Amino acid sequence: MNPSEIPQTNQERHVKGLEGVIALNSSICYIDGGKGTLVYRGYAIEDLATHSNFEDVAYLLWHGQLPNPDQQIHGQLASLRSIPEEVLNFLSQLPRHFDPMATLRTGISLLSHYDPESNTSTPESNYQKALRLTAQIPTLITALARHRHGKSPIAPRTTGSTAENFLYMLTGEEPNPTAIKSLDAFLVLHAEHGLNASTFAARVIGATLSDMYSAIIGAVGALKGALHGGANTRVMLMLLELQKSGEAPEEFVMRKLASKERIMGFGHRVYKTLDPRADVLRKMLIELGDQTPDMKLWIDLCSGLSRTMDEQKGIRANVDFYSAPILHLLGIDPDFYTTIFVMGRITGWTAHLLEQWEDNRLIRPRAAYTGPMGLNLSDHQ
Ligand code: CMC
Repeated sequence: MNPSEIPQTNQERHVKGLEGVIALNSSICYIDGGKGTLVYRGYAIEDLATHSNFEDVAYLLWHGQLPNPDQQIHGQLASLRSIPEEVLNFLSQLPRHFDPMATLRTGISLLSHYDPESNTSTPESNYQKALRLTAQIPTLITALARHRHGKSPIAPRTTGSTAENFLYMLTGEEPNPTAIKSLDAFLVLHAEHGLNASTFAARVIGATLSDMYSAIIGAVGALKGALHGGANTRVMLMLLELQKSGEAPEEFVMRKLASKERIMGFGHRVYKTLDPRADVLRKMLIELGDQTPDMKLWIDLCSGLSRTMDEQKGIRANVDFYSAPILHLLGIDPDFYTTIFVMGRITGWTAHLLEQWEDNRLIRPRAAYTGPMGLNLSDHQ
C-alpha cells in the first residue's frame, strides 16, 4: 500500500500543538487571550490577587464558590502540613546539587506511599488528597531548599497562612508582612490557568482512572519544561547574566533575536496581548521597588527587555517574566522558582482532577499516520 492508499480518516490534517483545539468542557477557568482576561470561577484574577488570599482561592477552585467564614480551610491546611520523617530522611540522602523539580517529583511520589488513601478514589478521599498535597508541598520544598545549603528542615507551624508558613520554614525567621503578601498574591496568580500543558497532562493521567498522586507527578514533569513553568528560573538567570555582564537589555534582546534564540518570559500560546498575571506582577514589582532600593536594577532591566521585545517582535511578557525578580527578593534560589509555581498550581491541577472524575471519559486522541505502508518482512535483508 502506498501513502495515497492510507484510509482518509488517517490523512486528516492535525493542529500542531493542538493550538485552539477545544478538548473538554470546564467550569474552573475562563481565558480570553485576545483581551488579556483571566477569570477563576467567575472572579477576575486582578480582584482575587488584590482582595482575596491563596486559601480562599483554593477553596473557590475546588468548590466553585468562595468560602463563608465558617468554611475557610486555613486551619485544615495548617493541620496537614507535616510530612513523614521517612520522607525527610530519604530526601536528605540525595546529592545537594539536585534539580529541585526532579526532587519535588520524587518527594510527591514518596508521600503517596505514606497516604493510606493514595489508591482510594472516592470524591471525599480525592478531596482530602487535594488538601494534603496543597498543605505538604510547601513543607517538601522548604526541606529541599534547606538541604541544598546543608541545613536541616524546619517543622511547619500549625498556624498562619501557606505563604507565611512557607517563608518561615525557609529561613526559620519571622517573615515580614510585605513578603507574605507578595508570595500570597504570587500563589493566587499561579493557582490556575485552564488547559495548559501540565493541567492537560494531569487530566489525561486522571482520565485513565489512575490515582491523584500519579496525575500530579505527571503534571510536575510537564511544568518542569522550559516552555512552561521552567521559564521563570531561566528569566532570573538571564537577569543575573545581564547584571554581571553590564550588557544593555536592548542589545541583549537584539543579539538573541538575531541568533533566533527565544527570550524566556515572553510570549504565550493563548494571550495575544498582555498576560494579565504579568501586569499584576509588574505593578507588584514596582511597589516592592519603592520599599527596596536594590530592586531598581531589576525593574530597569525588566523595562528595557520588555520594551525592546514589544518594539522588535510585538511579543509581551508572560507570568514568568515578573515572577523572577519577585521570587529573588523573597530570597528563593533561582532553580527553586518552578517549585513555587507548583505550590500555587497544585490547587488548579487537583480542581481539574476532581472535575474530570465527576464525569470521566478516557482521553485518547489519534495521530495522523505519516509512515510507510505495505512493507514485507521477506524484502528485509
Ligand atoms: N522569544 C523570541 N521569539 C518568540 C518568543 C520568545 N519568547 N515566543 C515566541 N516567539 C516567536 C517565535 O520565534 C515565532 O516567531 P516566527 O513566527 O518569526 O518564527 C512566533 O513568536 C510564534 O512562536 P510559537 O513558538 O509558534 O508560539 P507558541 O504559541 O508555540 O509559543 C511559547 C508559546 C510560550 C512556548 C513561546 O512564546 C515561548 O517559547 N516563550 C518562551 C518560554 C516562556 O516564557 N514560557 C512560559 C510561558 S507562560 C507560563 C507557562 O505556561 O508556564
